[in-house]
Amino acid sequence: MSKKYTITTPIYYVNSVPHIGTALTTLAADVTARYQKMCGNEVFFLTGTDENGTKVKEAAEKAGKDPHAFVDEIAAAFREIWPGMGIEFDDFIRTTEPRHRIAVQEFFRILQEKGHIYRGSYEGWYDVSSETFYKEADLVNGLSPDGNEVRWVKEDNYFFRMSEFGELLLAHIESNPGFIIPETRKNEVVSFIKQGLRDVCISRANPGWGIPVPGDDSQVVYVWFDALINYVAAAGWPAAGWEDRWPASVQWMGKDILTRFHATLWPAMLLGAGLPLPEALVGHAWLLMGDGKISKSKGNVVAPLDLANSLSERSGCSHDVAVDAVRYYMAALMPIDNDATFTYEEFDRLYNTHLANDLGNALNRSLAMSQKFAESIVPGGEVESEAALAIDAAKAAFEKAMAGFRVDHAAEAALSVVRFLNKYIDTRSPWALAKTQDPALPAVLRSMLLCLRTAEGLIRPIMPKTADAVCAQLGVAPLTDWQAIGSEASLPAGTKLQAPQPIFPRLEIAKQEQPKKMEQPKPQPAPAPVKPAEVPTEISIDDFVKVKLKVGRVLEAEPVEGSDKLMKLQVVIGEEKRQIVAGIRKNYSAEDLIGRQVIVCVNLKPVKLRGVESNGMLLAATDADGGAILLQPDREAPEGTGVK
Ligand code: MSP
Repeated sequence: MSKKYTITTPIYYVNSVPHIGTALTTLAADVTARYQKMCGNEVFFLTGTDENGTKVKEAAEKAGKDPHAFVDEIAAAFREIWPGMGIEFDDFIRTTEPRHRIAVQEFFRILQEKGHIYRGSYEGWYDVSSETFYKEADLVNGLSPDGNEVRWVKEDNYFFRMSEFGELLLAHIESNPGFIIPETRKNEVVSFIKQGLRDVCISRANPGWGIPVPGDDSQVVYVWFDALINYVAAAGWPAAGWEDRWPASVQWMGKDILTRFHATLWPAMLLGAGLPLPEALVGHAWLLMGDGKISKSKGNVVAPLDLANSLSERSGCSHDVAVDAVRYYMAALMPIDNDATFTYEEFDRLYNTHLANDLGNALNRSLAMSQKFAESIVPGGEVESEAALAIDAAKAAFEKAMAGFRVDHAAEAALSVVRFLNKYIDTRSPWALAKTQDPALPAVLRSMLLCLRTAEGLIRPIMPKTADAVCAQLGVAPLTDWQAIGSEASLPAGTKLQAPQPIFPRLEIAKQEQPKKMEQPKPQPAPAPVKPAEVPTEISIDDFVKVKLKVGRVLEAEPVEGSDKLMKLQVVIGEEKRQIVAGIRKNYSAEDLIGRQVIVCVNLKPVKLRGVESNGMLLAATDADGGAILLQPDREAPEGTGVK
């Protein structure tokens, strides 16, 4: 069988269910898996749960549960949560499974046989939270370097001669520049090794939980030594045939478990056992909340699915799209070198700006204009060169990003094509081309639609369901072959498009608190005397013609932040484009407005409304509640046409 592209996540401790921090690693792995599949690789995507440690045993005791029942319950929760996030793993390994126990005991036996394990006694500190041994000099103010409590341990144990592997590891890192990513973390690993690797204690006194050391039931295998072996156990090792799944092409993890475990202990164990090393280890940075870690004890845990459910409720987008929005947020934020901070505000902001504005508008505008100017049929004709260049550049940037495991850069590249598209629509102005019956119109529309089709392919590894929704509106099958992305054949002329359906309804961003003085109760004025019906003052025709009215078309629309009435519009009027702020938000959404023709008073003095400049006024009737009913020409009129 041919070698698969193997992707692993760390296996998660089952002391609590996933939060957006732990989900980050799994999402990065899923994006990698989906991309590699599109590239034609056969993928083996492995995740699972780490169930044998002291930490898990103590969590079960704290919950008053039998450890077996406890781990079964939480492992089942992990298994369910991941698919709910669109994570498509191929195997889920639990360290309490027989296949894992067999591999761990065999691994231990082989290292023992090769003389890499000896008996000794351990006296030092142990951090249960990270299941790590520390010596006195490692502690900071009596706590572990991560700030966890430590306890003193004195036991007779088995030791692994890790000290013997320092030179070999340094040589491997040196000759394989892609082995540890990113560069900053590689440097940390190198200096950690250069300080001298210590032999590692790899067993603990048997507390009745864990994998017994082969031939010595008084001890269980140290949980990290045990857990790391999951990667080869799931590949099928020690039985024959594991070579099609190991070595891993990439092992994703957070930075906290790279240096001491995946980049030193793990490769040393593999070298000792004579097994091949993984091709790449990627240690991403952390997602923080407020001033620190996301943790159950701090009570600041955000579950990814809760975030999706709340978004769907608040914005009205579908559940699938909300899950994709969470995936997009995590991908776009994916911290590599430096930690990032999660905030609800930033999550909402990215949804509105990147998804509703950039992607949503590009889709709505392109389909609305194709409907208006091409009867919703993909026109023939050559794609214009600037669009072709933008398509190629976005695809190449995505590929480069993924070659270096920069999921954040890949997300940026995927959206670059719709950002280009929005600008392209403005500059090529299909409405103006239609007005003059310019022969370039079909090529412009075709270019717009191919940009969309490309975006659909590029966002697919990150937002698979959204990509499907875009496809449905484009009237084509999902683009699953990476090669085909950007090709003209991916969107044949004659394809019947659907009417635009907004995928990302905008979120109403909570208004800022009103200044205090606004909240003071005002003295109630005496009721105003009822005015008699006003008799309009008569004006002459000369007065009337002073008001210049023209037909315009709304290109872009977005709510003005901090106001529940105002919409900021970009309106094309003949050759010029103007920004107009209108109090129509109560009655019109951005989707209602984009592409619509309006009547504009073009010679009003510019004003600033909520700090946003407005250069004109839309004509509208007023309904009984004071809401706007926009005036619109009875049939399409060229933009810029005068109104009398
Ligand atoms: N069980 C070990 C891994 C054994 S692998 C052979 C473990 N488990 S964990 O559940 O604590 O963490 C799993 C992963 O989640 C790690 O990659 C860790 O870095 C990541 N994260 C946990 N919280 C995180 C954030 N707040 N932000 C980013 N990643 C974080 O370690």
